[in-house]
Amino acid sequence: MNANELRSKYIEFFKSKNHVEISGQSLIPENDPSVLFTMAGMHPLVPYLLGEKHPSGTRLTDYQKCIRTGDIEEVGDPSHLTCFEMLGNWSLGDYFKKESIAYSYEFLTSPQWLALDPKKISVTVFAGDENAPRDEEAAQIWKDNGMPEDKIAYLPASDNWWAAGPTGPCGPDTEIFYWVGEGLPPVGSNKGTDSSNWMEIWNNVFMQYNRIDEKTLLPLEKKNVDTGMGLERTNCILQGKTSVYLTEVFQPIIKTIEGLSGYTYGTDEEKDKSVRIIADHTRSSVFILGDQRGVTPDRVGAGYVLRRLIRRAVRHGMKLGIEKDFMAEIAATVIENFKGPYPELEANREKVYKELTAEEAKFRLTLKKGEAEFQKLLPNLMKNPKKIISGKVAYNLYETYGYPLELTQELGAENGFTVDVEGFKEAERKHQEASKTVDAGAAKGGLAEQSEVTTKYHTATHLLQQALVNVLGDQVAQKGSNINNERMRFDFTFERPMTKEEIQKVEDIVNEKIKEDLPVTMEVMPLDKAKAEGARALFTNKYGEDVKVYTIGRDAKSDWFSKEVCGGPHVQHTAQIGDFKIQKEQSSSAGVRRIRAVISGGLPLDK
Ligand code: ALA
Repeated sequence: MNANELRSKYIEFFKSKNHVEISGQSLIPENDPSVLFTMAGMHPLVPYLLGEKHPSGTRLTDYQKCIRTGDIEEVGDPSHLTCFEMLGNWSLGDYFKKESIAYSYEFLTSPQWLALDPKKISVTVFAGDENAPRDEEAAQIWKDNGMPEDKIAYLPASDNWWAAGPTGPCGPDTEIFYWVGEGLPPVGSNKGTDSSNWMEIWNNVFMQYNRIDEKTLLPLEKKNVDTGMGLERTNCILQGKTSVYLTEVFQPIIKTIEGLSGYTYGTDEEKDKSVRIIADHTRSSVFILGDQRGVTPDRVGAGYVLRRLIRRAVRHGMKLGIEKDFMAEIAATVIENFKGPYPELEANREKVYKELTAEEAKFRLTLKKGEAEFQKLLPNLMKNPKKIISGKVAYNLYETYGYPLELTQELGAENGFTVDVEGFKEAERKHQEASKTVDAGAAKGGLAEQSEVTTKYHTATHLLQQALVNVLGDQVAQKGSNINNERMRFDFTFERPMTKEEIQKVEDIVNEKIKEDLPVTMEVMPLDKAKAEGARALFTNKYGEDVKVYTIGRDAKSDWFSKEVCGGPHVQHTAQIGDFKIQKEQSSSAGVRRIRAVISGGLPLDK
């Protein structure tokens, strides 16, 4: 079996259990300022896990591209990835623990499906704490399915409680592990007794709570199931390989890196790590740049994560002796291998190449500047008899010029210096603590909170897009949108700066539609019907998939201003938005303009 077959089989299995396949979503969450990337398959489903009705029903399945960067500097071992695919199935108030566990076990062990050896499977369940009791129910269901008692480990919340973010849907989970040690697992072995030889492949979360704040956990009206299976890992164990990098998911990428560097993977541990970093980071960068709502390298936010991924890959390319710009070449391999399940990569091919190459060039320039700065510092450094470069100096080179520690060490060594690495780490820690405080501020409210303000901004975005089309013409297409409690940003294709008059006209139209207090209505229908009715659809959904269509206007059939395929939520009528003001219109990237706008003083939403 390969990853493509595994993906199909998973979806096919859950369809046979009456699940509807839905489309995975963008990597960039649109209306959620608390997270930079979609980190799990459930992420786009948060409103539905909290009780909103999903257009495709109560049993869903999909595959979702995810980015988890956590600590980027840790990536490089044989199993961790910053970009991965998650296979998921959901029950929205439909089945619960019994069916969920039975489905998972059947899919994994049935000869008709994955046919994994039950002897090599063990599980964990929630041990219980002040929030929720020990999950005896899940344990019993596992036993009823044939799981021996000693293969069930009861672990605390740190292992067996899953939450989407600081607030939002959460609950105890049961995790499924596969034995990756030699031969068969010893009697009595489970994740609790041996954490290194059991690899997690699937997590079934029993979402029955909504975390409001640190102290308040409310039971959800409906109990949900949210599961996530790691595609690359499961594919790896199905092939009996020891590392995801040895599977067909990464081999073509690694072959391309070998061709560029002349190095053969598997001959030197340090260099292997560089190859893995380049492979992983390039794949992530291609997925981020090639996303439906892709971002570009930047000094902040998701764009900053992207920049770090690209630069770290380039640095490791240099370690392997690759002197020329190389990421676009690897990107070609990535696009070739993943454009089937992710056609947006093909659609954005040129953008991916262009941005990667530009960022590489920028980084090489940065390195030159850092080196020049080092040379300038040198006479002063020479006065230090101990020949130590302080952590502060090294960190300053890194922070101000982007000059990496290893390169300062290298340059230093050439001149007989050592670098105070501990001091560097200390300076870095201080800096990170400072930026964490900023992040925490940005994340206030948490993942699931759809505050009134962001809902209002969301509807204003629909009005703005239609007003732009009316004023500037059909070449206006949404390229991205970002909302937080303070402002909205909207990126769209247009070749030149807007004139003052055009900006005023757009603003006037939006305010006029707000004053008319138009109703906002929602209807669920198949995608093709929505398109036939004139609805704008930004993303590719599955053919025939049921989608939500939001209409702003007196009559959804005959008298409307805006119609879009969209997950919502939206205001009930436009007077709830308040005054709309465009603050800025500027270039975002070649052929793309960006508008920043604010709203104020609208009516409260109906409860
Ligand atoms: N949402 C769960 C996870 O990501 C399934 O592990």
